[in-house]
Amino acid sequence: MIKVGVVGCGYWGPNLIRNFINLPGADVKSCADISENRLKHMKNLYPSIVTTTNYKDIVEDPEIDAIVVATPVSSHFEISHAALDAGKHVFAEKPLTRTVEEGLKLVTKAEEKKLTLMVGHTFVFTAAVNKIKELIESGELGEIYYISTSRVNLGIFQEDINVIWDLAPHDVSIMNYVLGSRPESVSAVGHSYIRPEIEDVAFVTMKYPGNKLANIHVSWLNPSKIRKTTVVGSKKMLVYDDVSSLEKIRIYDKGVTVQPHYDTFGEFQLSYRYGDISIPKLDDAEPLKIECQHFVDCIEQGITSRSSGVDGLDVLLVLDSADRSVRQNGAEVKIEYP
Ligand SMILES: NC(=O)c1ccc[n+]([C@@H]2O[C@H](COP(=O)([O-])OP(=O)(O)OC[C@H]3O[C@@H](n4cnc5c(N)ncnc54)[C@H](O)[C@@H]3O)[C@@H](O)[C@H]2O)c1
Repeated sequence: MIKVGVVGCGYWGPNLIRNFINLPGADVKSCADISENRLKHMKNLYPSIVTTTNYKDIVEDPEIDAIVVATPVSSHFEISHAALDAGKHVFAEKPLTRTVEEGLKLVTKAEEKKLTLMVGHTFVFTAAVNKIKELIESGELGEIYYISTSRVNLGIFQEDINVIWDLAPHDVSIMNYVLGSRPESVSAVGHSYIRPEIEDVAFVTMKYPGNKLANIHVSWLNPSKIRKTTVVGSKKMLVYDDVSSLEKIRIYDKGVTVQPHYDTFGEFQLSYRYGDISIPKLDDAEPLKIECQHFVDCIEQGITSRSSGVDGLDVLLVLDSADRSVRQNGAEVKIEYP
């Protein structure tokens, strides 16, 4: 039985507590929050849970095996580092930390201590994203040309991070996971329309190895909630709409073929294919439940997580490069992985 302590009981923390409590191989002994009101709420929901306003009480508790960090990103490093130092496994919400340097320190510390460090890239635990990965790896979509995503809605404006750090970790983690590679460079433009200095709208373009392009539109200033990913391959194309409850993925048997032989430009011919549209059936298990179970499995079996600290660091490198590109009016920034 893995004994878990959860730090941060705001919007997301309670979802993590509920899932860990319901796992057969784990239990949540305690939770921490600086807000007494949030702790009162948790105590009402789970009367046996131990509550504290000081996360160090949990980190120093010898009965606790693992710490889950669901506080705003500015405190992820301090809490996660203290937990690793105390010999606890760590599951930190996304993005892993506020800076690349902090992320690197956590990865190094977890390796030194031989502890599991996982980051909450929830989408890599969804049936839809795993279906996309399967379709890409099986070759059904052909060679992947590009991926483009929109993750936009009205609010919620964050105070400590811009919209790239708030929303793009999801898209970058999805793209790295389904393509099985990491972007070589990033260019991004963004603007702060509502509050100075904190971009609320951004367009981030990445180049992956093999001439694959990727684009992410993130915004807190959009009239409707859109969560759409388009994957265009040489054989087929697909659209993943995370807002749709029943038809999340549509695979389009559409494409363009260049005639193999031509002598003059006049003979250069393209043929367009408009085939069937298929909608694969997807498992509807809660991704967070799968993610929490995966964390327990990683601890018990000593396996590397599907969203490891290193994967979290890869995402931080993209976010940091995107920020630098925004400051340079969209200049292409090469990413140097450690
Ligand atoms: N994986 C996902 O899909 C997903 C979804 C939502 C949020 N998140 C992530 O979860 C984290 C929390 O987001 P949220 O929306 O729940 O934020 P929130 O502001 O609603 O909650 C954060 C809570 O942490 C508490 N807190 C702050 N500093 C603390 C400290 N030092 N010690 C103890 N408690 C402290 C606050 O009082 C608050 O109750 C963020 O990193 C966010 O990116 C992930």
